[in-house]
Amino acid sequence: MMLKRRKKDQTVPVRSAAEIELMAAAGAVVAQALIEVRAAAAPGVSTAKLDKIAEEVIRGQQATPSFLGYHDYPASTCISVNDAVVHGIPSKTFVLAEGDLVSVDCGAVLGGWHGDSAITFGIGDLAKEDEDLSDATREALWAGIEAMLPGNRLTDVSHAIEQSVARSGLKYGRRLSIVANFGGHGIGDQMHLDPFLPNEGKPGKGPLLAVGSTLAIEPMIALGGRKTLTLPDGWTAVTKDGARAAHWEHTVAVGKDGPRVLTLRPDEKPPV
Ligand code: MF3
Ligand code: CO
Repeated sequence: MMLKRRKKDQTVPVRSAAEIELMAAAGAVVAQALIEVRAAAAPGVSTAKLDKIAEEVIRGQQATPSFLGYHDYPASTCISVNDAVVHGIPSKTFVLAEGDLVSVDCGAVLGGWHGDSAITFGIGDLAKEDEDLSDATREALWAGIEAMLPGNRLTDVSHAIEQSVARSGLKYGRRLSIVANFGGHGIGDQMHLDPFLPNEGKPGKGPLLAVGSTLAIEPMIALGGRKTLTLPDGWTAVTKDGARAAHWEHTVAVGKDGPRVLTLRPDEKPPV
């Protein structure tokens, strides 16, 4: 989501065990939608076709697409290709091609509780640098997830993301940058709740994480500069310098035995 000033809450809102199960059910719907979208993505397929697949999966499980109608957003997914970072609007005339770097972001609400998740993948073979960009972004997501521990503070998650990107280092003589003015967010009975979660910053600041705290963690990384522009459609955020970008997102709960990824895909293995 886009940058928002954080309220001074003491603790990231805590959900009951029953509420976490409802969020996991919504998360499972989102996970399935993303799996089916990725399986259908191929050269010649329009992004609107992928959006329709996601919507059908969501509605088929008696859930509702949470993006559709959110601030008048016209689709069930955001599909952001190449230099588009986030919030790309699916289109019947935008057809995928070999080598495209595609990020799909999807959200569903089920029984009043939300799941929000994004993946990045290539169409056919990706250039090695795009593969590395996506891997570095996914590793940053998981570094953030691993910081979802009781007693940590919000910006411990931010810092873990930043450190992971720093470890990935320079790529191909270009800088790997954390996209400015976007980040993660609280999530629960609404898609976007306080606090805003920066993707970088000093550790140990902001509200405490407690067992049951839930956040959507979503690093957005570009193989170039950190600045973005919004296209005239009012939504699509593209990199200012035209560099490609990747986006990975999970909805995560702090558990007493460690983080619980509520949008985990059954086929998913955390990066090593
Ligand atoms: N997951 C996206 C985010 O957190 C939500 C998309 S906003 C919408 O920024 F309007 F497209 F729904
Ligand atoms: Co989100």
